[in-house]
Parts: sequence; structure tokens; C-alpha cells
Amino acid sequence: MKTIGIIGAMDEELVLIKADMNIEKTVEKAKTTFFVGTIGDKNVVVVRCGIGKVNAAMCTQILIDDFSVDAVINTGVAGAVADGITVGDVIISKDALQHDMDCSPLGDPAGVIPRMNESIFKAADSLINVAKAASEKVISGKTAIGRVVSGDQFIASSETKVKLRDVFGGSCAEMEGAAIAHICYMNAVPFVVIRNISDSADGNADVSYAEFCVTAADHSGRIVLEMLKNI
Ligand code: ADE
Repeated sequence: MKTIGIIGAMDEELVLIKADMNIEKTVEKAKTTFFVGTIGDKNVVVVRCGIGKVNAAMCTQILIDDFSVDAVINTGVAGAVADGITVGDVIISKDALQHDMDCSPLGDPAGVIPRMNESIFKAADSLINVAKAASEKVISGKTAIGRVVSGDQFIASSETKVKLRDVFGGSCAEMEGAAIAHICYMNAVPFVVIRNISDSADGNADVSYAEFCVTAADHSGRIVLEMLKNI
């Protein structure tokens, strides 16, 4: 049977998933707890990676090396970047990039990782399709397939948001997805990022995030639970 790795950055993003999980054991590694067990008829390993790209990358590599996961799902919240995306909508990653990678003084365009073949990491079509169907079934807001742009910054200004939209083609901004995508690419493991929008990544983002983070995190978790029935 396949084993699915499920990553959330924060406890709030994993509450519903862990509530539905039959936890068989926990494994401690690198100051992080990995929950091993089943949800329905699927083997899963669930981990709260902590916030930011380095934490997310580390946990993804551990899921691959120590738990031999066959696929990785990243669930959580994000700020809206693309026009027409608002609080409560869902972005399913078509791909992901790191918006804070910038060696442009050396000649590479911003967002391009120097000396790598790829900087935009493509999610698995099969996982995108299952996630989209699950989202459309359980969420009343819009479901869009788009680009997840990640960086070690909470985006809370219209100016930055416009840059993420116009320079990088972002649909939503968060802080882990592209790092997970990068590690999955390096190991040829399929992934998808699912993000429910908690804020508009503008001057009001902190207030909106405080109000909607828990609900948005739950919505993303519900999509993952529905998805697991159909993987
Ligand atoms: N996660 C949720 N909202 C976010 C934002 N505005 N920027 C970065 N990460 C986020």
C-alpha cells in the first residue's frame, strides 16, 4: 500500500487530519515529531514542519528518506496574490517557486535558482486532479489551479503582492510549498500543495490572517481528508 506524507507548517493546519488519523506510533527526529499511522485505508505520515522553507525542506527529505513516502501533500493557508482570489478560495498548486531566490546582480532573473535546471517545480497531475475534485466537493469558495510562490516572509503589502503576481505569476503566497516542491523534485517524488486563502497579502493581511487562519486551515485539512479517499 502507498504511504502519503502530509505536511503542515502549524498545528492549526493539521488538527482535522490528526483527529481522523489512527496514530500507530510517533518518531522523533531533528526536533520534529512524525506521526505514523492510517487514515481510512491509506498509510500516512503526518508532520508539523514549522514555519519557513528550511523547516519544510528538512521534513520533506526525512519523509522521503526515513518513511519512504510515495507522495507528499502540503496543506495549509496562504495569502491571495492573483486577481479574483479572495479569502475562503482554494489554490491547488500547478507548480511552485521560491520568490525570495534572487541572484539577479549575477545575471539570473529573480526567482531562478542559479546552476539548476529547474526553479519552477511542477506538481503531479494525478494529485492535482484528485485535490481539485475533493476541493470542489467540500469547499463552497472557488477552487483554482495556480502557482504557489513561497518565501521566508509574511506578505502584507499591496506593492509586494503585485510583484509576486506580475513578476512570478503567483496565485497565492505562503512560506513552505516551494521548498517541499523543490525537495520532491530532487527525489522524483510526486507532490501537491493545497492552500486555503486566509488573507489578501495586502496591508490588511495581519488582521485577516488572525481572523481566518483557523477556518482556512480546517478547510484545507478537509480537502486532504476527502482526497485520501480517492488517491
Ligand atoms: N500564509 C498565510 N498568509 C500569508 C501571507 N500573506 N504571506 C505569507 N504566508 C502566508
